[in-house]
Amino acid sequence: MATRIALKFLRDCSVYRKIKSNNISRHSFCTGASTAATPPPPISKKVPQFSKTGRLFTGAVLSLLIGGGAYASTVDEATFCDWLFSATKLVNPFFAFLDPEIAHRLAVSAAARGWVPIEKRPDPQILGLQVWGRRFSNPIGLSAGFDKNAEAVEGLLGLGFGFVEVGSVTPVPQEGNPKPRIFRLPKEGAIINRCGFNSEGIVAVAKRLGAQHGKRKMETSSSSSSTEDENVHGGKAGPGILGVNLGKNKTSEDAAADYVQGVHTLSQYADYLVINISSPNTPGLRQLQGRKQLKDLVKKIQAARDEMQWGEEGPPPLLVKIAPDLSKQDLEDIAAVAQALRVDGLIISNTTIQRPDSVSKDPTAEETGGLSGKPLFDLSTNILKDMYNLTKGRIPLIGCGGISSGEDAYKKIRAGATLVQLYTAFAYGGPALIPQIKAELAECLERDGYKSIYEAVGADCR
Ligand SMILES: Cc1cc2nc3c(=O)[nH]c(=O)nc-3n(C[C@H](O)[C@H](O)[C@H](O)COP(=O)(O)O)c2cc1C
Repeated sequence: MATRIALKFLRDCSVYRKIKSNNISRHSFCTGASTAATPPPPISKKVPQFSKTGRLFTGAVLSLLIGGGAYASTVDEATFCDWLFSATKLVNPFFAFLDPEIAHRLAVSAAARGWVPIEKRPDPQILGLQVWGRRFSNPIGLSAGFDKNAEAVEGLLGLGFGFVEVGSVTPVPQEGNPKPRIFRLPKEGAIINRCGFNSEGIVAVAKRLGAQHGKRKMETSSSSSSTEDENVHGGKAGPGILGVNLGKNKTSEDAAADYVQGVHTLSQYADYLVINISSPNTPGLRQLQGRKQLKDLVKKIQAARDEMQWGEEGPPPLLVKIAPDLSKQDLEDIAAVAQALRVDGLIISNTTIQRPDSVSKDPTAEETGGLSGKPLFDLSTNILKDMYNLTKGRIPLIGCGGISSGEDAYKKIRAGATLVQLYTAFAYGGPALIPQIKAELAECLERDGYKSIYEAVGADCR
């Protein structure tokens, strides 16, 4: 790629020289008028000439670019990839200056347009795993809320996430809460949000996912024809795993009907589905976590999914995303329902409405909404451990909340997570964080003598 850029640059320079030597005026170049038909007007003396310093500066910049390009063309792909990811750190301070929602919008647009680095290096073998019959080249995922409308799935998976979860998607488009609704607490590595399910709705998201679906399926089949060893143990990522997180409309009275609509419209594109009943910003939503409500809801959604036509692979697994603000009794109820109805997985957890001591001195902590990031780590990890024990490790759990390093991801795995997700640390750290977390996690596993992720799952609960 570097070679291509350098060659294009050199070609452009030679075209410029040619134009200059043929004395093609700016006028005829722009209008396309032939130089033979109309003699070029003499170059105006008013055109400013570069000063000597200017020429020296331009020369130096050009030499640097050409020299840099030539040098880059000699380095291997892995080193070049490393440079690109490291270079993204340079834009983090710029993003930090912007309003959080504008920064987020820019980041999603950049990923949607492919203006982000692509991870070309294979994931460490030790990170590969298979869950729900799906192959993950690494267990690090991007959690819901970042790409709510599935605008940038390819770009985000290309960054090297093992999986990306889009949504929450509501059946009918809705604006969400008034802005501002996202607040940074940079000192604490945290965010408070009260977005309230701003969503373009299931139809818009289905259109986007449908357009990518064929390509993804082809990539899946070509990557599944790779060797058995590569399939089970990391290696190069295929198209990556796509989760679809479903929400409900604020004014809807029938939550189950909302989720069923989401299942009907979007499940065909999903590698897994999530029922989000834990956002603190939609009134009444968290009550769906109660024993009876959850049971009725999951039954209806499972039935809707299972009555659809499915190919050999079968329907996508159904997961439930829960809050970190649950009592022991709530957790027991959820564990009982999840086991009785054979829920395929649980995501633990969403944001918290609590304000732990570590943020209480920050005036921004008074904003209403769900807190995410570092201050959420202990709370969500404790709930994860409880749920792993309650379900006796029989249900795959996705650990989410406050992960900002490979060591954090490792702690979640030891607390019972098979897969992990993050959002806030990615919002602060950008793309460079992903290869860093993967490398650190692989190091943690090797340091403690594990040969795979499976061996470490729940190690702190035994
Ligand atoms: C701005 C923002 C928007 C979010 N939107 C959603 C959402 O739509 N659906 C959802 O299930 N979780 C949503 N989340 C929660 C995250 O998916 C995640 O569960 C939570 O932030 C904890 O992870 P973290 O500490 O790594 O950020 C959102 C989080 C943030 C910060």
